[in-house]
Amino acid sequence: MDPGGQGTTATRLRSAGSVFAEEEAEVLCAAARDGAELEAMTRRREAGEFLEHVVGRVEVMGERLAVAPGVFVPRRRTALLIAEAVREARARRAPRVLEMCAGAAPVAALVARRVPGARVHAADVDAAALAVARENLPPGAGLHHGDGWAALPPGERFDVIAAVPPYVPRESLALMPREVREHEPLLALLGGEDGLDHVCTLLDGAADHLAPGGVLLLELHRGQCRAAAAAARATGRLGAVDQVLGEDGSTAVLRVRALPDGPAPSSAATRETPSDLVLLRRVRDRMDREHDRPLDVEALAAGVHLSAGHLSRRFREEFGESPYSYLMTRRIERAMTLLRSTDRSVTDICLDVGFSSLGTFSTRFKELVGVPPSTYRGEGAEVLEGMPPCIARRVSRPVRNREAPGTSAS
Ligand SMILES: C[S@@+](CC[C@H](N)C(=O)[O-])C[C@H]1O[C@@H](n2cnc3c(N)ncnc32)[C@H](O)[C@@H]1O
Repeated sequence: MDPGGQGTTATRLRSAGSVFAEEEAEVLCAAARDGAELEAMTRRREAGEFLEHVVGRVEVMGERLAVAPGVFVPRRRTALLIAEAVREARARRAPRVLEMCAGAAPVAALVARRVPGARVHAADVDAAALAVARENLPPGAGLHHGDGWAALPPGERFDVIAAVPPYVPRESLALMPREVREHEPLLALLGGEDGLDHVCTLLDGAADHLAPGGVLLLELHRGQCRAAAAAARATGRLGAVDQVLGEDGSTAVLRVRALPDGPAPSSAATRETPSDLVLLRRVRDRMDREHDRPLDVEALAAGVHLSAGHLSRRFREEFGESPYSYLMTRRIERAMTLLRSTDRSVTDICLDVGFSSLGTFSTRFKELVGVPPSTYRGEGAEVLEGMPPCIARRVSRPVRNREAPGTSAS
C-alpha cells in the first residue's frame, strides 16, 4: 500500500487508543492488497480486534504462523514453553511431541520446524482452532479433536507433551484488556475458580499418555506453580516436578516427568483412585470435628497435600456440594440437636456451632430448616416424639445445597 495511507492509518489507530499506532499501520499496509481492504482492516482494528486476527498471522520466535478470528492468538510469553519443548524434543531420537489445548499449535509448529525427525500432534476441543493448526503444521501431523485427553486414540503415548491450557482464574477476567475479553473465546482463557481446572485434568491423565522417560510441560502463571505441583504429586502416578521461570517475572513452565520405572500402572479409574477419595473423606471428617472453626479451605487442602481449587472441585464432585455448603449444614445439624437437647440460649448455641453473627445463623437456619431456631425449639418436638431415632434424624435433617446468598462462613 502507498506510504500516504500508512500515515493516515497511524493517525486513526492512535485516535482509537493504539499505543503502537505507527508499527500497526505498517503491518496493516503491508498486509492489505488494496485501499478497500486497508479500510476494512483499519476499521476492524479501530473496533478493538487483535491486529493478528485482522491480518491473519502472528510472529512467534521469528516464525510466521496463521491465526484466525475466534482462535487464541499465541503470546510472546509462550516462547519460554516453546524453548523448553524444543530442548526436550532435541534430547530424544525421533520424538513424538503432542501439544494439548493446541489452538493455532505454536509449540507443535515450532518443534516441527526446529527438531528434525520430530513427529508432532495437536489436540483441541475447538474445531476452528484445529483448522488453523493444520495450516501451521507439516503434512502428516496428527490432529485430534475432542475434550481433553478424550481427543486422543487410546494407547497413544508421547515423549513430550506441552500445553498452554486456559489458566486464567475466573475473577481475573475483568482485569484483562478489552480486546482479550471481547475478541478471544472464553473457552481458551478461563480455567475455573483458581485457573487450575484444565491443569488438573491434564495432570490427572498425563501418566496414561506419557511414554517412558516422557515429560509434560505446562505454561502457567508463576503464582499457580505450587498448587499445580501439589496436584501433580497428588496423582501418585507422576515423577519429579520442577519449574522454569520466564524473564517477564510472571510466566512459568511446570515440568512434570513420567515415573522413572516406566509407565504408571494403567487404571481405568484414574480420577477415582481410592487415595483421592480417602483424602476427601479425611477432609470431611476434619470439617465434622472442627465445624465450630472458621472455614479455611487452604488449610484443609494443605493438610492432605492438595491445592485449594482441586479440593473444592473434587469435594463438590464427590459429595454434591461445596465445602462451604457442607460446613453450614453440619453446623445447623449440630445446632438442631443442641436446641432440642439443652437449655442453652439461641445466642450461645449460635456461638457454640461456629457462627459469630446471630443474624447469619438465624437466616441460615431458617433457610435450611424452614423455621427460625426459637420456633424449631418450641415446636415440632412432639412430632418427633416416639419416632425411632434413625427416622427422626432423617426427617429433621436440614435441606442441603441451598447456599445463602451474601452470607459467609463466620
Ligand atoms: C490459552 S489457549 C492456548 C492455545 C495455544 N496453545 C497457544 O499458546 O496459542 C487454550 C486452548 O485450549 C483449548 N481448550 C479449551 N478447553 C479445552 C478442552 N476441554 N479440551 C481441549 N482443548 C481445550 C481452547 O480451544 C484453546 O485453543
